[in-house]
Amino acid sequence: MNILVTAGPTREAMDPVRFISNRSSGKMGYAIARAAAARKHKVVLISGPVNLEPPSNVGVIRVVTAAEMLEAVKTNMLWCDVLIMAAAVADWRPVAVSAQKIKKREKIRSVKLVATTDILLAIRSKKGKRIFVGFAAETENLVEEARRKLKAKSLDLIVANDVSRRDAGFDVDTNKVTFMASDGEVTDLPLMSKLAVAKRLIAWIERKAGRSR
Ligand code: PMT
Repeated sequence: MNILVTAGPTREAMDPVRFISNRSSGKMGYAIARAAAARKHKVVLISGPVNLEPPSNVGVIRVVTAAEMLEAVKTNMLWCDVLIMAAAVADWRPVAVSAQKIKKREKIRSVKLVATTDILLAIRSKKGKRIFVGFAAETENLVEEARRKLKAKSLDLIVANDVSRRDAGFDVDTNKVTFMASDGEVTDLPLMSKLAVAKRLIAWIERKAGRSR
């Protein structure tokens, strides 16, 4: 299968030296790309700014902002059979981006933000028979929020990710997730390495693709 994976954070600039972002390291998305390539799938990885070496047998598209990630997903969408959105796309960006470094003496008291485009919502109508997988990074009401996002974003599967734990979520090598499928199937996985989560995810996708052939 052709599998498109997004990973890492996006950065939304305020001026040439400052930006809004989040704590995503890219480890989860890169592990998925690695696990998919190991199963001989063709993989394109759209990566935000991270300090990771991509697997050698994976095509990589590097982006910085949410708008660039949206464009890269749109461009590669028709090619893919499966889209896995593991990236932590910034939900907001500063309204104004200063061309020069803002001086400390300007005493800024607030920064006006505007919502970025939700990538999954923007491409939802072009899904067709493709398998779409999203992640839900939550610190509270994990199951309810994940179920809401599963429906709102027309996904086949959402990986509910409890990011309140120190050994799960952002910038660690392990993760604690629950797979919640659109047919109501729920699989609660124990704490495991991100690579082990990724292998379980690819196995779920292969089963799903086999069932719908
Ligand atoms: O990178 P690591 O350090 O390994 O951390 C892994 C992780 C915690 C980032 C990852 O496991 C994870 O949970 N990724 C999703 C983070 C997130 O942005 O979740 P969300 O609940 O805000 O978004 C829900 C879904 O919508 C996600 O699939 C997200 O990629 C997508 N989204 C979000 C915002 C946006 N503008 N467009 C989107 O498509």
